[in-house]
Amino acid sequence: MNCFQLIKIVLDEAYVVIPGDDAAKDAAICKAATDLSSEYKGLLQSGCLDYADPARRFAYIYKYTTSHANIVYKAIAQSGDLGQVFDQNKLSVACVGGGPGSDFLGILKYCLRHEKSPELRCQILDRDATWGESWSDVDDKLGSTFRISTLFHPLDVTDSANWDRFKKHFGSDLITMIYFLSEVYAVRDQANQYFEALFAGVARGSRILFVDNNSPQFYQWFDGLAEKHGFVTLASQKGMKQLPFDEEKTDLEPYYSKFNGKGHCPKIRADIAIRVVQKA
Ligand SMILES: C[S@@+](CC[C@H](N)C(=O)[O-])C[C@H]1O[C@@H](n2cnc3c(N)ncnc32)[C@H](O)[C@@H]1O
Repeated sequence: MNCFQLIKIVLDEAYVVIPGDDAAKDAAICKAATDLSSEYKGLLQSGCLDYADPARRFAYIYKYTTSHANIVYKAIAQSGDLGQVFDQNKLSVACVGGGPGSDFLGILKYCLRHEKSPELRCQILDRDATWGESWSDVDDKLGSTFRISTLFHPLDVTDSANWDRFKKHFGSDLITMIYFLSEVYAVRDQANQYFEALFAGVARGSRILFVDNNSPQFYQWFDGLAEKHGFVTLASQKGMKQLPFDEEKTDLEPYYSKFNGKGHCPKIRADIAIRVVQKA
C-alpha cells in the first residue's frame, strides 16, 4: 500500500459519515472546500478553524492532506540530516497540529520510498478530537509489514490546563509543525506559552521540522523560539513549490474525477517556508 491508497481508505470512511445521499454529500464537500479556502485567507484574524463537520474534514484531507504529505516527504528527502533520523532502529515522532494526518503520511511516504523501516511511534496532537477517528487504526490499515503505531492526543495549545497534561511528546526524536503556526498565529498570545514550554523541553539532539506559508510572521515566530532555546538550523528554505501529483490521481478515484470536475482539486502549488532545526 502507498500513502495515497491509505488516504483513499480514510476518505472512504469520512465520506460514509457525511449525512445524506451522494448528491448531498458531494454538495456539502464542495461547499466545505470553498469555505476552507476563504477562511484560510482570513486566518490571521480568526485563527484555529473548526474541523468538526465531517464534510470539512473530508474536504481538508482531499485538498490539503494530499499536498502537505508530499511537502513533508520532500522536506525529509531533501534534508540529508533529517533522512538520517530514519536510520535509527526506533523512532518517536510528534505531529503537533497534525490531526489531518499530513505530517504522518509524509513521513510514511518517505519510509516507503526510501525503504526505511524504523519502529515508528507517532503521536498525533491536535485540538480537534474528531481527527483521531481517521488515524487511530492506521497500523491495522497498513498491515503487519510496518512497525508503525499512531496515538492521538486531544491537545489545545491555547489552554495550558489542557496541554500541561500532554507533555510526553516533548521527548520525541522528531517534532513536526506543518501549517500549524499560521493556524494559531491569531491567538499567539495564548499559544506562545505552549511553544515556549515545548522548545525548552525538547531533548538535546532532537529535531523539529517546520513548514508553513512563506510569511515572515510565521517563520520569524518559529526562528525566534528556535534561537532562544538553543537550536541550530540544519535547513532553511523558502519559495514556491510545485507538488508532484500526477502519479497519485488514480489512487484518489472516484473522488478526483468527481471533485476535479467541480473545480476542487488537491493543492498543487505552495509558497512555503521550511526549517529543520536541532537542539544543541
Ligand atoms: C492547517 S491544519 C494543519 C494540519 C496538518 N499539519 C497539515 O499540514 O495538513 C491546522 C491544524 O491545527 C489544529 N488546531 C487548530 N487550533 C488548534 C489548537 N489551538 N491547538 C491544537 N491544534 C489546533 C486543527 O484542528 C488542524 O488540524
